[in-house]
Formats: sequence, C-alpha cells, structure tokens
Amino acid sequence: MQLFLDTTDTAVLAELADTGLVDGVTTNPTLIAKSGRPMLEVIKEICDLVDGPVSAEVAATDTATILKEGEKLAAIATNVVVKVPLTFEGLKAVQTFAANGIMTNVTLCFSATQAMLAAKAGATFISPFIGRLDDHGADGMDLIQEIRTIYDNYEFDTEILAASIRTSAHVKEAALFGADCATLPPSVFRELIKHPLTDRGLDAFLADWAKTGQSIL
Ligand code: G3P
Repeated sequence: MQLFLDTTDTAVLAELADTGLVDGVTTNPTLIAKSGRPMLEVIKEICDLVDGPVSAEVAATDTATILKEGEKLAAIATNVVVKVPLTFEGLKAVQTFAANGIMTNVTLCFSATQAMLAAKAGATFISPFIGRLDDHGADGMDLIQEIRTIYDNYEFDTEILAASIRTSAHVKEAALFGADCATLPPSVFRELIKHPLTDRGLDAFLADWAKTGQSIL
C-alpha cells in the first residue's frame, strides 16, 4: 500500500518523509487555505520534499478552465498530480489530461458509480472519502470494497486512494479491502507504528541487555 500524507505543513512533511515511508502527498483547497501561503509556492516546496505523487487541486469547475489550471499545476514538477472534482466537467478534463500524459486524482468520491465513471475517464487515482461518509452515517469502508470489486471486474487501471482517513483502523481496513493507497493526516501516520506492547517489550530488552554489561560495538 502506498502511504501519502494529507497535508501542506512542509515542516511536518520533511520530518515524516525522513522515515523513508512516505510515498506521496495530497492537498486540497482547505489545506492550502490553512497553510496561509501561495498555492504554487507550497506545491513546489512539497514536490522538492517527496519524489512520489503530489496532488494539487484545481479551483475551476468548468472543463476549459480546469484544463488551463491543471496544465499550470502540472508544469510545477513532474510528480504533480492534478486533482479534479468528480463532476462531468471534471471528468471531461480528466480524459484530456489522460490523453496528454498528465496524472489525475479525481476527488470527492462518495459512490461506486462515481468511481466507475472516473475510471472510465482514465483517472490515475480515485479518492473515496471514507471519514466523511462515516460522519454522514454511512460506512465508508463499504465503498472501498465496492470500488475494488468493480475495478477488478473490469480491470480498470485507476488506483484506489483511500481518503478522508480519521484513524489507523481506517488504514488497516482499507489495506485489507485492497485500496492501492491511503492518504493520512500526519497524526494518523504517526499512530500506525505505535503499540504499547512494543514500547514495553523494548524497555524490557534494553533493561536486560544493560544487566549483561556487554557492548556490541
Ligand atoms: O484531501 C482529501 C481528503 O483526505 C480530505 O478529507 O475529510 O479530512 O477533509 P477530510
């Protein structure tokens, strides 16, 4: 599973990218607004910090302007993925981007039929929003399963990018159900490695090792 960070906080990104376990980044207009910085500057900095896919979302809603904005975003760096809303105008633009070799991430996906249309349009990634479905009283993980089944039935190449992740359990379940990628807030990424028995076991090993008085080096 590819693990992306859902953030525009470049300081935190630099710290976590240093683990060697961050495969890419996703952003959205809300995260850009939260950064308080010019979008193009933030995306460029992020692209310099990670080699993997970096999603940068268009603000336009009509096909012609989505194409213009997307081409400008894609020109920032070779690892930019143009993020496009799941509308017919957006999917028309996705088809053109696909024909021109520009990677796309179709976002705000909340149903399997939406995901099927995005795959038919040639999206590189589809972003089903698990947490927001849960918040809405549905089960976001059902959507991951449905998309996986449909994509496998028809051998669609579009990668499932589990998004709107709220917990490490979401990451586990998305991986169990076959999502190709997940994009996580940094706080959830940090949770993935934590377990109290690991901490306790290491403390015990180190304490027993200290008693030997030995040194490996
Ligand atoms: O950036 C895409 C998605 O992960 C955002 O989800 O619900 O945390 O705003 P949310």
